Amino acid sequence: MIGIFDSGVGGMTVARAVEQFLPGYPILYLGDIARTPYGTKSAATIIEYSRNNVRFLLEQGATLIVIACNTASSVATQALRQEFSVPIFEVISPAVAEAAKASKNGRIGVIGTSATVRSAMYEKLLHEARPDCQVFQKACPLLVPLAEEGWLNRQESKMIIRRYLHPLKNQQIDTLVLGCTHYPLFAPLIQARIGKRVRLIDSSLATAAFLQTIFNERADWAKGLKTGGKNRFFVTDRTESVHKIAEMIFRRPMQLDLV
Ligand code: DGL
Repeated sequence: MIGIFDSGVGGMTVARAVEQFLPGYPILYLGDIARTPYGTKSAATIIEYSRNNVRFLLEQGATLIVIACNTASSVATQALRQEFSVPIFEVISPAVAEAAKASKNGRIGVIGTSATVRSAMYEKLLHEARPDCQVFQKACPLLVPLAEEGWLNRQESKMIIRRYLHPLKNQQIDTLVLGCTHYPLFAPLIQARIGKRVRLIDSSLATAAFLQTIFNERADWAKGLKTGGKNRFFVTDRTESVHKIAEMIFRRPMQLDLV
């Protein structure tokens, strides 16, 4: 089974994309709602929370982990790979590969949480993938609580997005990476603000497409991941807004089990 975790509902955008790109592979999802957001916390705390999440998913039967959180991907991937023997995938490299390919003028914007921006992981990997590129980063910490609250189309959210994107508007970027798995929930507002000529890169879709390629290339190995029960979704706290967002993302009634 594929174990997927995030600090909250954002990783559900990854889980949903995995369902679509890889039907037939059972998913175990954990949203650490009780401790969200991760993006404002220290690296040590993010690593500790991520470790707890992986342990839980392995106990439930996961044999492969997807860190469906850019914050944990940028800060905790190395520690998790050292500690656990199962394959661990992160969401940053697939988004970087897609952005490096998509950009024509090499001017790439990245928005993410404070921890993701501070880690400079996107900057580093984008420069490796495309040495001629210029990267413009902007932390947008308020978007995660707004998403968890379900304020996806509120005037207040529009104002905050406008403020956050302002410095990127003058940089002639042609590509913008949504470097937080919560941000696809605001994609229409972000696209409207940044302009339709800027291509948005959704790290959720990029990751699911990347996994699909790997699974196709290694079909025998991937077959083993098909065993297990049905999809299950766990949360460390259950609120009405989280339930609503889960149903909006998956477009069906959702059962969220409290752990
Ligand atoms: N969705 C996460 C990310 O991609 C988590 C954000 C947070 O908890 O701050 O960064």
